Amino acid sequence: MTRPRSSGGAAGSEPKVRIAATLIPGDGIGPEITASVRAILSALGDPFEWDVQPAGLSAVASHGDPLPPATLDSIRRTKLALKGPLTTPVGGGFKSVNVELRREFELFANLRPAVTLIPGQRYENIDIVLVRENLDGYYAAFEHYLPVGDDPKAVAFSAGFNTRAGCERIIRFAFDYAVAHGRRKVTIVHKANILKALTGIFLDAARRIAPHYEGRVAMDDRIVDACAMQLVLNPWQFDVIVTTNLFGDILSDLIAGLIGGLGLAPGANIGTQAAIFEAVHGSAPDIAGKGQANPVAILFAAALMLDHTAHGEEATRLRHAIRETVVGQGVRTRDLGGSATTEAMTKAILARI
Ligand code: NAI
Ligand code: MG
Repeated sequence: MTRPRSSGGAAGSEPKVRIAATLIPGDGIGPEITASVRAILSALGDPFEWDVQPAGLSAVASHGDPLPPATLDSIRRTKLALKGPLTTPVGGGFKSVNVELRREFELFANLRPAVTLIPGQRYENIDIVLVRENLDGYYAAFEHYLPVGDDPKAVAFSAGFNTRAGCERIIRFAFDYAVAHGRRKVTIVHKANILKALTGIFLDAARRIAPHYEGRVAMDDRIVDACAMQLVLNPWQFDVIVTTNLFGDILSDLIAGLIGGLGLAPGANIGTQAAIFEAVHGSAPDIAGKGQANPVAILFAAALMLDHTAHGEEATRLRHAIRETVVGQGVRTRDLGGSATTEAMTKAILARI
């Protein structure tokens, strides 16, 4: 669902019509890395007209609400957002804003491409795209406790669900992505040997849909635990992976590890009504405010957003400048074994645009 350029064919000195987009700086390192994105996109002739909106823990502090109505209204209007990481309280507290946004805008597909940037690491030449179902599974589970005796939380229940329609939609998305991007194979990842209903419905859907792509995209399947091991032993056998929500969450972090960590992994949440781009990593409270955050993951997310809005040329220039900086010049933040600050990295990338 690539949206057309809205530059309106402006010629000469006529100002370009920019695409309205929501920017959520977010929590922790979010403001630092989104500032980097804005500076670098500016140098590329930023095609986006940003509407900056709060969300997450910082929005609780400023607006008394982790997802203020104005933020939702903004995304409803723009249908396009770049989102910094949002802190989610563990155990209790407010519900994950990330999950709320996915649900509100029916962002059913989570696309997480992982491509080797830095050569000479533990794994060379990784190029895997993980497609994760983003709405159902255990993320849509009815969770509750049952009391026994005087223990109010003696038993914990979770009833997740997957729908046939939801499975078919995400599997079609993965195959269509494979066709559009010249990929050879889609691997279906499930646990249909144990969760026979919950993930059996997913495998069934894949077996029905894959034949429609015969001759164009191959299909195979793996049980999730075996897949985790094989991703470590021989990741090169994988091309596009499509899986259910929780397995996708876990495997995408594993795959990010294959390319040198979370600081390099972008993600896109794509739906029928909107698309929200983000880094795979979280708000990194341990390094927030210290100028150590790696902006590359969210810059790659911005590149996906440029691709999505038919600004492939700017996306290519952005990726090239990042590669030149990180690989060519060896300018790297601490997570990549370097000592550059977020600002130094940003300046170095700017110099290459
Ligand atoms: P995290 O991804 O924030 O941090 C894990 C480790 O990676 C930390 O040591 C951190 O310093 C490092 N790291 C992450 N991003 C980095 C970057 N750009 N540059 C350098 N180092 C980086 O995961 P964690 O600690 O489990 O979660 C922290 C908070 O973030 C939690 O509240 C969690 O719920 C939230 N979170 C939000 C996400 C989102 O908004 N999409 C995704 C994942 C977690
Ligand atoms: Mg995760």
